[in-house]
Amino acid sequence: MLVPLYPVGLEPCPLIGAYLKLKLHRQQKLLIYSNYIASMDGRISLPNAQGEQVVPASIANKRDWRLYQELAAQADVMLTSARYFRQLAKGCAQDLLPVGQGDYADLLVWRAEQGLKTQADIVIFSRSLAIPLDSLEPYLAQRNIHIFCPETANKDKCKAFQDIGVQLHIAGKEAVQAKEVRQLLEHLNYRSAYMIAGPEVHRTLLIGKQLDRLFLTQYLSLLGQNNFHSITTDAMEACPMTLESMALDQQEGQVFNQFSFCNTSCA
Ligand SMILES: NC(=O)c1ccc[n+]([C@@H]2O[C@H](COP(=O)([O-])OP(=O)(O)OC[C@H]3O[C@@H](n4cnc5c(N)ncnc54)[C@H](OP(=O)(O)O)[C@@H]3O)[C@@H](O)[C@H]2O)c1
Repeated sequence: MLVPLYPVGLEPCPLIGAYLKLKLHRQQKLLIYSNYIASMDGRISLPNAQGEQVVPASIANKRDWRLYQELAAQADVMLTSARYFRQLAKGCAQDLLPVGQGDYADLLVWRAEQGLKTQADIVIFSRSLAIPLDSLEPYLAQRNIHIFCPETANKDKCKAFQDIGVQLHIAGKEAVQAKEVRQLLEHLNYRSAYMIAGPEVHRTLLIGKQLDRLFLTQYLSLLGQNNFHSITTDAMEACPMTLESMALDQQEGQVFNQFSFCNTSCA
């Protein structure tokens, strides 16, 4: 059971279904939301033996993963990074994208009941277009794959992706810009977009004031180390947030937080 800490006065509730009830795919406007698990000192990833930043094994857990899957179940499209596919090709990324595998098969039934496609489509942010073609092919049968890139992207590389059925979209001059991202997602008729990339894609959405919700699991543990990623990066203006919900998971020792941002999309 989860113990709700905010809003106050709610009864304990089961973990399963805790995020499905939010109906993120049924909001009035396109909803762009992100989700992270972090240690109490803010680490979302640490280097593994090969030097690749990965989610620390000491904080990753099945109960948080259930809620990750529930957020994915509500998505029309998942926003991710080129680096994710590079890590996937090297075998050091979890295969995060298919929802409803194994223990989570109920979520496939739920998606069908909600009138959602079996699997969400995929948007990849990239400047370099250094994305192994092979890593995309398994997804193409079931899902539309879009790459959002800047005007500076190499045209020959663009064509190589188009030739295998990936759709390319220019979404900024030298880097992908958040406003263009929202416009393109709306144009493509998506209503819920789940951002599962790391700090750079997150920062892009935050500084462009296009992120609507942040789901942040705080794992009750301190990890230390100086070489780490947090949920954002580099210089940026402060982004005030409003706490929407907070629940304690005593079984695993973690707190599930949900924040909203009042930005240009809610003006
Ligand atoms: N704990 C958690 O919940 C959690 C969640 C997500 C990720 N992570 C960790 O975070 C680490 C980093 O994730 P990530 O690699 O997905 O990180 P990221 O920092 O968001 O993505 C980096 C890549 O995305 C592309 N990119 C980002 N912003 C862009 C922009 N504005 N315009 C164009 N391209 C842009 C670039 O690709 P190109 O280089 O191709 O140009 C860049 O190299 C991962 O190793 C993962 O372990 C943890």
